[in-house]
Amino acid sequence: MMIMVTGGAGYIGSHVCVALLNAGLDVVVVDNLANSKETSLRRVRSICGRSFYFRQVDIRDEHAICEILRTYEVTAVIHLAGLKAVGESNVRPMTYYENNVFGTMSLVSAMKSAKVKTLVFSSSATVYGIPTYLPLDEDHLLRPTNPYGRTKLFIEEMLNDLYRSDGDWRIGILRYFNPAGAHESGLIGEDPLGVPGNLVPFLAQVAIGKREKLRIWGKDYETPDGTGIRDFIHVVDLAAGHLSVLRYVERPGVLTVNLGTGRGNSVLEVVRTFEAVSGKPVAYEFAERRAGDVAVCYADPTHAKETLGWRSTRSLAQMCADHWRWQLQNPNGYEGNYDETEAVRAFPALRSNASA
Ligand code: UD1
Repeated sequence: MMIMVTGGAGYIGSHVCVALLNAGLDVVVVDNLANSKETSLRRVRSICGRSFYFRQVDIRDEHAICEILRTYEVTAVIHLAGLKAVGESNVRPMTYYENNVFGTMSLVSAMKSAKVKTLVFSSSATVYGIPTYLPLDEDHLLRPTNPYGRTKLFIEEMLNDLYRSDGDWRIGILRYFNPAGAHESGLIGEDPLGVPGNLVPFLAQVAIGKREKLRIWGKDYETPDGTGIRDFIHVVDLAAGHLSVLRYVERPGVLTVNLGTGRGNSVLEVVRTFEAVSGKPVAYEFAERRAGDVAVCYADPTHAKETLGWRSTRSLAQMCADHWRWQLQNPNGYEGNYDETEAVRAFPALRSNASA
């Protein structure tokens, strides 16, 4: 089975590729490399010991996408390509609509022409907006509070309409909570462009000495320690979720499902856990609440468990340890000249994969 992964060179995409390749599926990655590096794909090959295809193409190029779908005889598409910075989406909303909404329309159009009707789409828990109850299940009201979240919601609606118009479509909509961590090899991980906006990449850069201190946005939330609570999910667990969904969408329909742990951890808990596993102190100071942040957000993952048999298995400590290994081995992300053969040597699992 040939799977096309849009955005496959990115943080989540590279981990999804590892999951697919290790499951014996074939992969063609489509990525415009706007926010990712081809090095990640080379590293995916090192981890899996298997080759796959890569085409540097923008999903808005309908003609090129159609050609790829036909040439590689793609059976399903995992669609992760898109812009994802909340703050930037407030400043440049049309760029977000253009990339995310129009990009998906163009992709769907190409899929229709090539008669590929299986699509797994990466949505976000941000579609829920401010929680009216917790944990958040899939029936919760959808009221995103920023343009980025609205692009995700509009795409979800669009895909539901698509299925209503043609019952042959097989669609999975995945609402991610807060992905963090990295592959256990330390070969692939998150390589943020500029100053990281998300908590874990930022505090990892503080721990390694690239940034002076973490600013914790808000210490007076109605939570046990006053800091915000989120559902941090290990990116490898998240990637495994895609594989389960791919198996599920062998039947027509639309499956909308949360991918989260069901566990909430506060910002301070994450800081303490990171300090414990890295052995490095993380300097921080408290600052005003960040506009648009909610106090508490975590998933009800029951639907994923019942329909897919999937649940996250990795702990917060493991997530921090894996993130730290990635940070330590790649202080400058993919820009560095880290010798990955060392990592392959250090991980017997990788070595046996590589020689398979
Ligand atoms: C953010 C996005 C969300 C997106 C998600 C995953 C916002 C408002 N929301 O979610 O749409 O789906 O990332 O990419 O940006 N924190 C600090 N200091 C920091 C960074 C974060 O204290 O330097 C705190 C935040 O206030 C929050 C928690 O850490 O309480 C998690 O923040 P973050 O990693 O940005 O994720 P979300 O805000 O949940």
